[in-house]
Amino acid sequence: MSKTLSIDIGGSKVKAMVLDEAGQPVSSRERMKTPQPATPKAILAVIEELAAKLGGFDRISTGFPGAVRHGVIETAPNLDPLWKQFHLADELSALLKRPARVANDATVQGFGAISGKGVELVITLGTGLGSALFIDGISLPNLELAHHPFRASNTYEELLGQKALEREGKKKWNKQLQKAIEQLFNLFYYDRLLVGGGNAEHIDFKLPESVHQIPNIAGIIGGVALWDSAAIGAVTRVD
Ligand code: BGC
Repeated sequence: MSKTLSIDIGGSKVKAMVLDEAGQPVSSRERMKTPQPATPKAILAVIEELAAKLGGFDRISTGFPGAVRHGVIETAPNLDPLWKQFHLADELSALLKRPARVANDATVQGFGAISGKGVELVITLGTGLGSALFIDGISLPNLELAHHPFRASNTYEELLGQKALEREGKKKWNKQLQKAIEQLFNLFYYDRLLVGGGNAEHIDFKLPESVHQIPNIAGIIGGVALWDSAAIGAVTRVD
């Protein structure tokens, strides 16, 4: 039975837990503040500390808050510019002496929550705006809705990210979210929209029937799917 150290790198916290092959937790959930500046070196030091607390794992999965291709970081909008082209999978593997896989954080969160049937769109409301799309349980990698224009030349992240929530307040943020949900339906015709992330708790309107809130722990539980070749699919190569 392989055990997976699953890590969720976020804009405010780095979380980690060990999972069994079925994605069941077999350790406590540990978390540390995301260091500032959130450079690769500083985050790897945090991960090393978390891993030392947990121990007893055979492989590593990581959800990263940016676009990731084949273990390499393409973007890290809410961390540090030094992440660009950083080979996180190789560096984690060298640091912790185990094979490592890395995917976008919203993709990993989706893996922890989807039903595996039909068109499932995931959005995460945290520091940034995460998004991921799954067709019958297979993920389309790096759906980067965050930086696309949403309304009046503002992007989804500019209107729904942490800064928008702080700047505009909950009422306005909820209004924008309601509009975004409608717009995303007209764009994807999803069977289900799954909404996660720390700020989902601020939602104050009744969600349409096809929209469901998912727990934050999905961002860690989903890590086990990065080792499931059927779920990953031919195009979602992670290494
Ligand atoms: C990034 C996404 C990420 C999201 C949530 C956005 O700024 O572009 O890749 O999933 O933040 O962390």
